[in-house]
Amino acid sequence: MTAEELPLFATSPVARVSELRRLLHHHNQKYYAEDAPEMSDADYDALLRELQALEAANPALVTPDSPTQTVGAQSIVSDFAKVRHGIQMLSLGNAFSAEDIADFLQKIRRFLNLPDASAVEVVAEPKIDGLSANIRYEKGVFVQAATRGDGTEGEDITANLRTIKSIPHRLQGKNIPDIVEIRGEVFLSHADFAALNQQQAAQNKPLFANPRNAAAGSLRQLDASITASRPLQFFAYATGLVSNPFAATHAEILTCFQAWGLPTNPRYTVCANQQEILAFYERLFTDRATLGYDIDGIVYKVNRLDWQERLGTVSRSPRWAIAHKFPAQQAKTIVREIIVQVGRTGVLTPVALVEPVTVGGVVVSKATLHNEDEIIRKDIRVGDTVFLERAGDVIPKITGVDLAQRLATSTPFVFPESCPVCGSIASRNAGEVARRCTGGLICGAQTVQRLKHFISRHAFDIEGLGAKEVEGLWQDKLIQTPADIFTLEARQQAGVIDLPHRKGWGELSTQNLFAAINERRTIPLNRFIYALGIAQVGEATAKTLAKHYGTVEAWFSALQTAFDTASEAYQQLLSIDGIGVNMANDLITFAAEPHNQQVIADLQQHLTILPHTETALNNTPLTGKTVVFTGTLQTMTRAEAKAKAEQAGAKVSSSISAQTDYVVAGEAAGSKEKKAKELGVTVLDEAGWTALVS
Ligand code: IVH
Repeated sequence: MTAEELPLFATSPVARVSELRRLLHHHNQKYYAEDAPEMSDADYDALLRELQALEAANPALVTPDSPTQTVGAQSIVSDFAKVRHGIQMLSLGNAFSAEDIADFLQKIRRFLNLPDASAVEVVAEPKIDGLSANIRYEKGVFVQAATRGDGTEGEDITANLRTIKSIPHRLQGKNIPDIVEIRGEVFLSHADFAALNQQQAAQNKPLFANPRNAAAGSLRQLDASITASRPLQFFAYATGLVSNPFAATHAEILTCFQAWGLPTNPRYTVCANQQEILAFYERLFTDRATLGYDIDGIVYKVNRLDWQERLGTVSRSPRWAIAHKFPAQQAKTIVREIIVQVGRTGVLTPVALVEPVTVGGVVVSKATLHNEDEIIRKDIRVGDTVFLERAGDVIPKITGVDLAQRLATSTPFVFPESCPVCGSIASRNAGEVARRCTGGLICGAQTVQRLKHFISRHAFDIEGLGAKEVEGLWQDKLIQTPADIFTLEARQQAGVIDLPHRKGWGELSTQNLFAAINERRTIPLNRFIYALGIAQVGEATAKTLAKHYGTVEAWFSALQTAFDTASEAYQQLLSIDGIGVNMANDLITFAAEPHNQQVIADLQQHLTILPHTETALNNTPLTGKTVVFTGTLQTMTRAEAKAKAEQAGAKVSSSISAQTDYVVAGEAAGSKEKKAKELGVTVLDEAGWTALVS
């Protein structure tokens, strides 16, 4: 994950919107589902704001699944049961300055029609840096607990939350609604976090990066006895679904919580006006280090619940609450070394190893440099004294260099053009910031990932050989490259390996596996291409390529010839609809890499790769016709339209010429439509096209 995030290049709004969505989905997943954030909240917010602005300017681009319309992770992969929240679990808008707070209060006054400068009472609470949870009590009894998830649907962590000692299994006292959902934050104190990490170290287990990650890891345990062994804490700070109202203000809610036996944060304070709000902020900012747990700011909530109700929410956050974030914490240190790490997807990420320094209570010895351009832009060199910043729980970053302290002998950092792990070419596409290793199939940093892709459902799909098995076989060095899968049986027969006696295998499953592998020794070309896991080459592209080149030999040798961009092979590659310069470059560099040539040659020893066969219908009005799509289609995606056209025997091209038979013009078709008319090519609108193709 690198500065693919940075809007460095001017692109069309449509492309940028889709790029931003992809990035935000990715980071949501990292943050909410995997508890492994890769970027700071501030960077995330910047991306989200950019998307919001683009969508505001182009309302046609808004879709229901856009990250601006949803909160949190889209696809939580886990074995926990799903729980739909009765009331959405919202997120909070951010404020960073006194002006932002003044603005927040003024907007509230305007919304409620209150006179300017009138008092708006708020409750100020520390914003705990943990995980939010929703606990449902029915008739005072704890019946269910869930994580926030995507805000609409979370995971069932009932058994886990029941193990937290401070959370009552039965509420005490009076006025408890029949149904009341309690929302609050699960967290670990600094002391418990340190003890847990000591224990992890003693058992040779990986350390947690910070208390939040440790709390998340402790909570998302299918075995609740592990959760029970971790000293998690909880502060209740809001209600979810409530069967009958029991309070008129937020402060009263908190008082009831206390009376019912729920833990609340002792520092919460009612503030009458902005002055008191800011005084509270200053106080807490000073006391932050002594609280004993991580907070990343303060939450202000309008005290009157009838006002909260009237204020309502806007997209993801309530109008009646805001998070006043603390500034990121900074320190100065020295860069000792710059190393380049290779991620599981082959992206090369530079990392600065720095003289260990304490930033916001955490010892930092590494900082991400994001990518090549970032190093050049900031001109960060080994030996430099740098400013390091840590915001919340994310990986620290270097914000700048103290040039006054630069050594006379220092030289700019030279980014490697080959993979530091496997030595393959590391290439970078125009317009992209990431440099990627092209040796995915043999690169130690990526092989397991690639092998898992190779055997995945839409690739080789070998029964009995799932991600888990591949991982195990890879760890035991029984499978290192894809071809090794197909030599397992021979090696077994030769007595070189002993599969049946591996843990959890046995004679029968070994024989079954061999049979399943043998079944896949014959494979259609498109599946084969897809299985190779070439950057950007998904199923659709693999099919397109198979169709265009027909055989594996034709395809691979054309790619090798296309290395010369003056060649006809290169032009032909680019003329394929759906293949742009970047994708062409990924294909070409893949084919140029000797390691990959070897992998393919090895696989060919064991496989029959079926040439592409036409399955298109004969004798339709479109048989043999050339169609060009332009503009935005309303009833189907471009990919669907293309698939339908090809089914009907048409060829789809990306450029218009006199040979084009039909141009299908969607909305905002632009210049292609004009050109078609000039050339006298038939132009169809979407309805006309649908009629023709069906
Ligand atoms: S109130 C409608 N109060 O901050 C408001 N949230 O960015 C719902 N958080 O997901 C949240 N301490 O995990 C609230 N005292 C507090 C909080 C708090 C921490 C977290 C919570 C929430 C996130 C919102």
